[in-house]
Amino acid sequence: MERTYIMIKPDGLERRLAGEIIRRFETRGLNLVALKMLVPSRQTAEAHYAVHRDKPFFADLVDFITSGPVVAMVWEGEEAVKLTRTMIGATRPIEAAPGTIRGDFTTLLQANLVHGSDSVENAATEIALWFSPQEILA
Ligand code: RTP
Ligand code: MG
Repeated sequence: MERTYIMIKPDGLERRLAGEIIRRFETRGLNLVALKMLVPSRQTAEAHYAVHRDKPFFADLVDFITSGPVVAMVWEGEEAVKLTRTMIGATRPIEAAPGTIRGDFTTLLQANLVHGSDSVENAATEIALWFSPQEILA
């Protein structure tokens, strides 16, 4: 069993796609073990995207992710990291396949609805950043 950090971004809530996104992970067979809604602080957003600190789009990215409420979640299942990344779809809109969340609902690079951890190691770091151990109900 593996855990991953999934976050519905502000555009996902604005577009009323939270239910749709959660439903996809549920019906695929993953277990939801933590969930909360919050407006990320700048500090948390910068830590979350620390790997992109030196990229030209970093400030925009942090502005975007702190612009409204997000839904922070932990999902659990077999190869949960890889599975959810596949279901979310590629970062570049043109490469996000139909049937994926991004491929079905957006053409935008920044407003791409949902985040998923890209490795088991990063998943552990991100889960610890966004949740206290007591908030994980499994
Ligand atoms: P995420 O971390 O949000 O799940 O997205 P990802 O792994 O598919 O993509 P990543 O490379 O980690 O980039 C993080 C987010 O930064 C924005 N981005 N903008 N302007 C640009 O060139 C650019 N590249 C990436 C996207 O919102 C991406 O989701
Ligand atoms: Mg990423």
